[in-house]
Amino acid sequence: MVHEKILVLDFGGQYNQLIARKVREQGVYCDLLPYNQSVDQIREYDPIGIIFTGGPNSVYETGAPRIDARIFTLGIPILGICYGCQLIAYTLGGRVTHADTREYGKRAIQYSKSLLFAGVCAENTCWMSHTDFVSSVPSGFCVTATTPTCPAAAFEDAARKIYGIQFHAEVHHTVEGEKILHNFLYGICGAKGDWTMSNFVTEQVERLRQKITGKKVLCAMSGGVDSAVAATLIHRAAGENLTCVFVDHGLLRKGEAEEVVSVFRDRLGMNLVKVDARERFLNRLQGVSEPEEKRKRIGEEFIKVFEAEAKKIGTVDYLVQGTIYPDVIESGKGASAVIKSHHNVGGLPSVVDFREIIEPLRDLFKDEVRKVGTELGLPDSVVQRQPFPGPGLAIRIMGEVTEEKLKTLRDADAILREEILKAGLNREIWQYFAVITSTSTVGVMGDARTYEPVIALRAVTSVDAMTADWAKIPYDVLETIANRIINEVEHANRIVYDITSKPPATIEWE
Ligand code: XMP
Repeated sequence: MVHEKILVLDFGGQYNQLIARKVREQGVYCDLLPYNQSVDQIREYDPIGIIFTGGPNSVYETGAPRIDARIFTLGIPILGICYGCQLIAYTLGGRVTHADTREYGKRAIQYSKSLLFAGVCAENTCWMSHTDFVSSVPSGFCVTATTPTCPAAAFEDAARKIYGIQFHAEVHHTVEGEKILHNFLYGICGAKGDWTMSNFVTEQVERLRQKITGKKVLCAMSGGVDSAVAATLIHRAAGENLTCVFVDHGLLRKGEAEEVVSVFRDRLGMNLVKVDARERFLNRLQGVSEPEEKRKRIGEEFIKVFEAEAKKIGTVDYLVQGTIYPDVIESGKGASAVIKSHHNVGGLPSVVDFREIIEPLRDLFKDEVRKVGTELGLPDSVVQRQPFPGPGLAIRIMGEVTEEKLKTLRDADAILREEILKAGLNREIWQYFAVITSTSTVGVMGDARTYEPVIALRAVTSVDAMTADWAKIPYDVLETIANRIINEVEHANRIVYDITSKPPATIEWE
């Protein structure tokens, strides 16, 4: 099925992926592509509407991203946001002015009559993040919103369906921002809303079935959301012909390996090969303290184990990868560039004989992947799983990894997870985990002196792991967690809470 599409042209602003996600959330498929698409490429793409994103430049700067003015003659509705709106003004003969200070934050805004603001309360609040502003709109345009500092906070040429907004409708601080996007998509572009995750599942399964029936498919299952959802989708299409290899490297959290087997083999009936490589990995990590060396050894060992299993299966037709849309955007946009850069994910493809890589989630954002997982019947524990690093608990134990430290860490981490869940904080916290530090301190237990490594708790809020803030977990929840760890976990005598943001710290400790 051919979906209606919105083309989001990327001018490098920080909210660009957010714009694309917000469009999709409203049931309309969109792609985020570099701003320099030619008019012919745009015509061929055949969008029902185009959105210009914000960006860090000033339109008058040399080298600032520009657009071909012929884009305005295609008859396709256009919405320019922030830099995008300044570009509309600049390209069509309006004026953009540089302000002395940057305007950033919530602002009062007044909307006037416009299809874009239909049903939106006229006296409202929007989110601004800009320095330049449109001081004079091009001829044929009229101003449809103002703020005390922005004479043209929104402007339009309704006849040509060209709209500019200086504020960020995609940011949730813009009250009724979703309604504004909805008006653009449905009221102006005439969208019908054919992008839903249940449609996606039906269409993908059908497409995959045609492609892979009778072929052998191999998937490296990590227990993470992406590989789990990718494998389940493929399983719907390939059934028995899909083999999932799950390497238990012994560095997983408490109950995780068991859960993978119980969900994918027992419940979904997948052909899952579980490789117990716990001893092998622990041996390889013996005496190793340096974090990058740990990562290197784990990566190498993983490939060896996977390779041995793949050899048993023989040549496969397809190797499944859980690539998702942000990976596609980040690794160079063009389809061919993407396949190349993902050819080496985890080093796997070069060690497996396969004909083609198959990436069933490459069009989806993370929140869409989770919805697909739910559509496919995966439990919340899998679908809502927090990010977990490939080297697992090995990089949450400072210094050498030992069986004893792994047990202490697993037990402490399980308590932390249980209490966060109980307190209902699991959705708002991005990642939460325990760490065994390399500092031992004195404690007193009963009448005896103890001397054990300090256990640190780390919990952060984030949207993309690029930056993160330490989570303000209520004291009573922290207290319960600490008390339980001290009472229930062997070798625990002191708990600390990490209150550092990223930057300057990273999320993980190693
Ligand atoms: P940092 O610690 O760099 O982490 O702030 C950012 C995100 O990446 C995850 N992370 C890793 N994931 N292999 C992975 O697969 C790794 O070596 C690794 N190190 C960090 C981390 O959990 C967080 O989500």
